[in-house]
Amino acid sequence: MKTAEKRARELRQELAHHNYRYYVLDSPEVSDAQYDRLMRELQELEAKHPQLATPDSPTQRVGGEAAEKFEKVVHRAPMLSLANVFNDEEFSDFDERIRKLAGVSEVTYVCEPKLDGLAITLRYEQGKFLQGATRGDGTTGEDVTGNLRTVRSLPLELLPQDGVKVPPVLEVRGEVFIRKEDFKKLNEKREEEGEPLFANPRNAAAGSLRQLDPKMTASRPLSIYLYEYVATEGLPAFKTHTEKLEYLKKLGLPVNRHEHAKGLDGVRKQYEASQKGRHALPFEVDGMVVKVDDEDLRLRLGQVSKSPRWAVAYKFPPEEESTRVDAIEVQVGRTGALTPVAHLKPVKVGGVTVSRATLHNEDELRRKDVRQGDTVFVRRAGDVIPEIVSVVLSKRPADSKPYEFPKNCPVCGAQTAKDEEGAIIRCTSASCPAQLVEKIRHFASRTAMDVDGVGDKLASALVSSGLVKTFADLYALDKTKLMSLERMGEKSAENLLAAIERSKQTTQRRFLYALGIRHVGEATAKALAEAFPDVRQLYTADQDSVTRVKDVGPTMAQVIYAFFQEPQNRAAIDALLSAGVTPAPPQVATGGPFAGKTVVLTGGMSGMSREQAKEEIERRGGKVAGSVSRKTDFVVAGEDAGSKLKKAQELGVRILDEQAFLSLLKGEARS
Ligand code: IVH
Repeated sequence: MKTAEKRARELRQELAHHNYRYYVLDSPEVSDAQYDRLMRELQELEAKHPQLATPDSPTQRVGGEAAEKFEKVVHRAPMLSLANVFNDEEFSDFDERIRKLAGVSEVTYVCEPKLDGLAITLRYEQGKFLQGATRGDGTTGEDVTGNLRTVRSLPLELLPQDGVKVPPVLEVRGEVFIRKEDFKKLNEKREEEGEPLFANPRNAAAGSLRQLDPKMTASRPLSIYLYEYVATEGLPAFKTHTEKLEYLKKLGLPVNRHEHAKGLDGVRKQYEASQKGRHALPFEVDGMVVKVDDEDLRLRLGQVSKSPRWAVAYKFPPEEESTRVDAIEVQVGRTGALTPVAHLKPVKVGGVTVSRATLHNEDELRRKDVRQGDTVFVRRAGDVIPEIVSVVLSKRPADSKPYEFPKNCPVCGAQTAKDEEGAIIRCTSASCPAQLVEKIRHFASRTAMDVDGVGDKLASALVSSGLVKTFADLYALDKTKLMSLERMGEKSAENLLAAIERSKQTTQRRFLYALGIRHVGEATAKALAEAFPDVRQLYTADQDSVTRVKDVGPTMAQVIYAFFQEPQNRAAIDALLSAGVTPAPPQVATGGPFAGKTVVLTGGMSGMSREQAKEEIERRGGKVAGSVSRKTDFVVAGEDAGSKLKKAQELGVRILDEQAFLSLLKGEARS
């Protein structure tokens, strides 16, 4: 026990150190795989000794219990916002005001990127992260502690460097945001999972941090940078903002880049440079924050209403263009989600021609009140999806009418309904052809059933010809049927039939993914397949057992559970199985020393984590049990093995040490 506790402490220290190297210094010492190994070892230890799994363990970033609602938090000091300036003249006025009030001829500033995210405040007590909240109205925000805990770059415990002392209380402020690359991946994943896309990284960050289920937040790639703190007793007094930032960094907190600028000219140079460099930054910025460096001067300047006099947001000119909305159309996705899309007169924005812009959902469409014929400003958001920023009302045609969101699905005419999250309207029909086309395309895609040749066009043709109404209909196709389709030659038909035939031999993971269940991407499908190697087990599984699957939170579990309760879905699956589709359970071998055997693991091994050992045994067809009985075939006893080893000796169960276990795994020894 002592050693386990000691090892857990060591692992936490090591993980915290690597986090610091990665997120604060931007100079990692280990590979991701090495980091993951340390993390797995800690998870193992905590699984074995649950009392070691404290809430500030890095293993707890997966997200705890879901909340009913967010508690309100009254900020100990108000969270201010910044006044904006948009050009050199306005910035000169700002600079002049400061010089006058301060009675100095030149001011030293610090310039920081203005991150486009969500302002948050974090409270550390005795070095431990205790509470985090959103800005809210500046006075009262929402307690999002559980969600913030899942943010990898947020240290759960301060990690003081260079002899810096941990202050008794530290309240730091900063921004939660999503990096461009992470944003792109997040949207790709959402597309794959049939979820509507986020308009921009800011919306994605805000939406992710305000999830009631922290597991949802944990699945979103949020980042954090800190840029200010609240002066509290026990904190060292610093002369400049720069020193404060250095101090935060030495406490192990991620701090964004910051540059000194002397006077007006210095700021002008910085502004030009950062505007030029904005696209090269890994995150979205909408300007540069210019702050007075001298702390004393800051105090003297104070604040006006809700913003400080000592800082200003110097905005970048937006990369926007105006164009006309030719039409608004609603698209139906795989999960039935209706997404309004504006068709635009093509226009170049930031070097790229834009002819369509997503309007996201009904709320967004209403809020912006975009209408056909409107002149609008479009912007490329997060360097990915073009977005309509605003409507030029003065140019609106006199006879324009607000866009009516269709009450019925534009493709199949079925009723539409808002989903439980309230923002997405879906077509309620289970047999909507638009959904079906998307479902078939997804079903056949490379990472799902891998039926080569079924792209957008063929999926549409199969559905509109009436040949395919269900997944199983794919397996009832023949040459004559296929050749009745336009532009389908004999050779293509043969190739397609062969690909369809090949796809019958699949894996449970691919099969579950192919079904296109909302929220179930490849990773979730893999976890589900491991927990439910036979698809029909999911017909009888209760919601709790779905929730217990790795990385599946209550919201996801509910959707998955509901999917398998739906008779139509079961019928579709049964039809596939009868058609000869055979999803193989996750690689389980039939021969070998572990096949059909029950193994108990006890004690720690040096070369492998317990989770890995379990995986290896299961892959070889064995089962890992928690306690030793007469039915146990082997006990693998590592270091510090305790009562289980004793029991095994008493019962005469075969005991393997680490070495013997490894040789059996490798097939070097016989059982
Ligand atoms: S300082 C009193 N620094 O911009 C000082 N804010 O429009 C308050 N922001 O609410 C903020 N990057 O969410 C500061 N480097 C930065 C920032 C920054 C982004 C955001 C922050 C703030 C908003 C003000």
